[in-house]
Amino acid sequence: MGKESPIGIFDSGVGGLTVVKSLLERLPGENFIYFGDNANVPYGNKTQEQLMTYAVNILNFFKAREVKAVMVACGTHSSVTLPQLQGHYHFPMLGVLKAGARSATQVSKNHRVGVLATEATVNSRAYTREIKAIKAEYQVFEMACQRFVPLIESGVLSGEEINHAVREYVTPLLDNGIDTLVLGCTHYPFLSQPLKEFVGRDVELVDPSLETIEELKELLIQNDLLNNAGREPRREFYVSGHPEPFFNVGRLLLGDMVRKVKRVLEKN
Ligand code: DGL
Repeated sequence: MGKESPIGIFDSGVGGLTVVKSLLERLPGENFIYFGDNANVPYGNKTQEQLMTYAVNILNFFKAREVKAVMVACGTHSSVTLPQLQGHYHFPMLGVLKAGARSATQVSKNHRVGVLATEATVNSRAYTREIKAIKAEYQVFEMACQRFVPLIESGVLSGEEINHAVREYVTPLLDNGIDTLVLGCTHYPFLSQPLKEFVGRDVELVDPSLETIEELKELLIQNDLLNNAGREPRREFYVSGHPEPFFNVGRLLLGDMVRKVKRVLEKN
């Protein structure tokens, strides 16, 4: 394991690709292995035990591939399993939760923050805890958005069904006077456009991936693992379920960087 070893990145499906997009902008020289656990998507309605089983299998896959660090590109795992798994592997691991909470406190002026996330993330109350740990006076309003992930995974990113769900999930948060809306599930930046149109200019959207990648950079520097070799980066994509939908939606976001998608860990 060294500077040129890949970073392991995982999510339940295409959501973590929004984190990859930020990685490509800010750390374009890094090699990575992406794993989309789409045989088990959505993660949002799974129990803590199920999520733990998935995480351990994926981390063992990454361990066998000798990754130098793991990016938990999933709000659900960052909130539910990462706190327990942190420190149990020889590679550093980083989630999106802390960066998301930090960004929210940097953006909000009226100290009223909305968080859209999966059921499991909302039930964990992790966002409320993290935000209040930074600024105790903040009020946090969390909303579980069950319908978003299945729509995004099947490539539905706009239209009536999306607009209807956006209205249903976001209206109660706007009624609470939020000025900041955290996309607390990594799938949701796929819906930035309809969300922006609905909330208008008075509410700012926070995509935790930008600050997360800054944190990842720091982590790599601290561990002397930043890849500055300047060689053409290697990027590999794996899924546990059907490769085709991942390939199609992935290409919408990352273009032809998503070339080959291989199926592994089917009995995850
Ligand atoms: N994208 C993941 C998250 O950030 C998982 C969503 C899901 O599969 O429900 O929470």
